Amino acid sequence: MPMPPQTLRFFRRGQVVTIDGVTPTRTLLEVLREDLHCTGTKEGCGEGDCGACTVVLGENNNGQLKYSAINSCIRLAHSVDGMAVWTAEDIASTNDVQHPAQEAMVQCHGSQCGFCTPGFVMSLFALYQNHGDQPITRADAQGALSGNLCRCTGYRPILEAAQTMQSLPPVVVNETEVLSNLKLLAHIPRGLEDDFTYKAPQSLPELLQLRARHPGAQLVAGCTDVGLWVTKMHKEFPSVLDVTRVAELRRVEQYPHHIAIGAAVTLTDAFAALVADRPQLKSFAHRFAGLPVRNSGTLGGNVANGSPIGDSMPLLIALGANVVLMRLHKGKIVHREMPLEALYTGYRKNVMAPDEVLAWIKVPKAVPQERCRVYKISKRFEDDISAVCLAINLHIENGVVRKASVGAGGVAATPVRARQTEAALTGQAWSVDTVIAAMTTLRQELSPISDMRASAAYRNTVLGNLLQRYWLESQGLQVVNLEQLTLEGEAA
Ligand SMILES: Cc1cc2nc3c(=O)[nH]c(=O)nc-3n(C[C@H](O)[C@H](O)[C@H](O)COP(=O)(O)OP(=O)(O)OC[C@H]3O[C@@H](n4cnc5c(N)ncnc54)[C@H](O)[C@@H]3O)c2cc1C
Ligand code: FES
Ligand code: FES
Repeated sequence: MPMPPQTLRFFRRGQVVTIDGVTPTRTLLEVLREDLHCTGTKEGCGEGDCGACTVVLGENNNGQLKYSAINSCIRLAHSVDGMAVWTAEDIASTNDVQHPAQEAMVQCHGSQCGFCTPGFVMSLFALYQNHGDQPITRADAQGALSGNLCRCTGYRPILEAAQTMQSLPPVVVNETEVLSNLKLLAHIPRGLEDDFTYKAPQSLPELLQLRARHPGAQLVAGCTDVGLWVTKMHKEFPSVLDVTRVAELRRVEQYPHHIAIGAAVTLTDAFAALVADRPQLKSFAHRFAGLPVRNSGTLGGNVANGSPIGDSMPLLIALGANVVLMRLHKGKIVHREMPLEALYTGYRKNVMAPDEVLAWIKVPKAVPQERCRVYKISKRFEDDISAVCLAINLHIENGVVRKASVGAGGVAATPVRARQTEAALTGQAWSVDTVIAAMTTLRQELSPISDMRASAAYRNTVLGNLLQRYWLESQGLQVVNLEQLTLEGEAA
């Protein structure tokens, strides 16, 4: 029997918005445009790519309001239950003074046809609200706008708007009022009862109980993969189990030798933790989708989804990460831990039982003797999916490779560890001969296919070339590459 849709509540424009009868697969964009008739937020692609639908969510983060720009087109509406929501229609002052994010776009001529403009304004709003008093650099602006496409204005005036906002008269958000309303909303239970269609448990035991009781419910995290099954494949799920409110799974924990990242930690926060330990990963982290996708999507979702072209897995394999799966057994939480690559059994298939969830990703911390690099090859530099992703982590001591870990994506039905290449490197002198031999092994051991992103031959050639690049860089021969190019207007 179909279950009744349930009520959604969030805080917007100074009041709690209550909408009854919201089905579990209704998107936030649909609710805003169709139920609330707020058509200022636009739909462009409907798949998280263009940013026209960007809105900003507010959450209580240890007593501070945290603003996150997200794509409303692929975000399930119920996932924002209990949060604050701002659209481009909500940020001017009550006496209609434009927010600096809006006024700067006007003054810098940042809009032509205007279709993309509400999305840009909302990314700028989040940047402004989160930034504090530090001046916004060109790189800050570029990062904040990485999920917004404009087809007519050109980006220079919009980047200038980003750097102009802070000099304009402020429009102050009443954060005390927002936070106190978020506290009130937090006391309303979120769908643990059996007849609720969208369940968002707040603790791990609750999640595991619900997973065991409702194995047919669609498990979701940030919905940046699942959202497209809804908008592009028109899938409807009678019930949904959302992991993103589970307090335990939202934590990043530091241990002496590893970092444990909860499966519901957003990609933004997970990469921040990884980059804090290995600063060289910063440019790779910024190339994972655009900021609004990273603000919604989780590391656990990327790993569990198991796409062969997913970007975090090659890196996590090269770093020697383990995953921890959990379920309830006779009322007790039981877990099993395995190397990340052992999770996958075939194309988008994994070893997880129907009552199990991915709970933690455990990443060994950097050690002095390691040299870890990850290379993403895609048609577009930002906000694009990899054709090939190769992560190489060698421990080189006294000119000899003591340990080799190589993870690859885009070259098989699952993310893979290149074991033969690791064997060809381990124990060998770190020399050009070793590298040439390992390049041949790498090209032989992986058998990529041809698809719209690249031909098999291209992928195969690139694989070896990336290993060669790793070697050249290790010799101090820093070839010109995209990561080194400075942004227009920024001091070199
Ligand atoms: C515009 C755009 C750009 C993108 N760019 C990239 C990119 O550059 N690189 C890349 O790798 N990916 C990219 N993606 C894909 C996507 O963002 C990632 O795969 C993301 O990490 C998915 O996480 P999520 O939380 O949104 O997962 P969801 O979409 O919510 O879930 C994905 C799958 O994982 C399962 N799942 C989620 N959490 C758990 C859990 N705790 N336990 C068990 N199963 C779970 C779900 O059931 C579902 O099957 C992009 C997506 C979009 C829309
Ligand atoms: S409509 Fe294009 S990202 Fe949402
Ligand atoms: S102003 Fe037309 S798409 Fe940006």
